[in-house]
Amino acid sequence: MDQAKELRNLINNSQNFNIKNNLNARVITISSGKGGVGKSSFSVNLAIYLASLKKRVLIIDADFGLANIEVLLGIRPKYNFYHMIKGERNISEIVVDTDYGIKFISGGNGLRELSSINSTEIKYFIEQFEYLDKIADIIIIDTGAGISPSVTNFLMASDENIIVTTPEPTSFTDAYTLIKVMKEQNKFIDKLNIVINKADDKYEADRIFTKISYVCNKFLAINIQNIGYIPSDMALIKAIKQQKPAILAFPESDFSKAIREIGNRLLNEQQMSNNDGIKSFMQKLMRIFNK
Ligand SMILES: Nc1ncnc2c1ncn2[C@@H]1O[C@H](COP(=O)(O)OP(=O)(O)OP(=O)(O)O)[C@@H](O)[C@H]1O
Ligand SMILES: [Mg+2]
Repeated sequence: MDQAKELRNLINNSQNFNIKNNLNARVITISSGKGGVGKSSFSVNLAIYLASLKKRVLIIDADFGLANIEVLLGIRPKYNFYHMIKGERNISEIVVDTDYGIKFISGGNGLRELSSINSTEIKYFIEQFEYLDKIADIIIIDTGAGISPSVTNFLMASDENIIVTTPEPTSFTDAYTLIKVMKEQNKFIDKLNIVINKADDKYEADRIFTKISYVCNKFLAINIQNIGYIPSDMALIKAIKQQKPAILAFPESDFSKAIREIGNRLLNEQQMSNNDGIKSFMQKLMRIFNK
């Protein structure tokens, strides 16, 4: 092949690559078996870090009623999914900007309505999501804790899941139960990542990961990936008191370093893969909710 042709091919291919990756958002759900393990803190700080790398990031708080993320971001959106499902607002009106370079959507009570909307509403609802694929590169969904359908359905619809656990036995056994429930519902578990939060050190985190990984492999035939550990760090508590995300208030803390490492790993691992996007995610979710 002559050099000019080779160059043209290279450009064409790289254009295709860019277009592919820019079309749809990468959807990552964050869940846990047990509550209070650090999902919302992780979601918010990870999102802010990814935004600092010029990614367009949107967080969706799908944790019914608790509004964790709103508190962490210091915002109180006027409209949420409920208003969109009821047709009172369109999707662009429920997206709010934050002071930290990320966008946010509150689930509010709206997500409870997902199982009771009619087919015309479903169509409208799913179509709306196309907008989010256009405005975001990465969408992080904080699903809340537990094994109720409101959590597991989100995991089932998502191609990429991160399960947060701490080294506490109750926390990692609940994480295992969550994975088991997904398996029982016949989910083809593709990318299942674990983050060990509030670990004393790397050794403790590795030990816990090995345990979970062993049982998932042996009893569920699932390979899970360790995408990092986050140490227990007072910086996070201080940051919450200052009402500022730790990654900005204490960028040199061990917590922030761990978030950056996980963020870099997530970005590196993606490389060539294509995203299904949030619209496709919602299609799957609606199918599951309305089965
Ligand atoms: N690495 C950490 N070091 C110290 N404290 C932490 C760490 N991660 C989270 N925490 C603290 O643990 C508590 C629970 O965190 P967070 O609200 O993020 O958990 P969650 O999983 O979202 O909880 P919920 O299930 O209620 O939504 C908070 O007080 C938070 O500051
Ligand atoms: Mg939370």
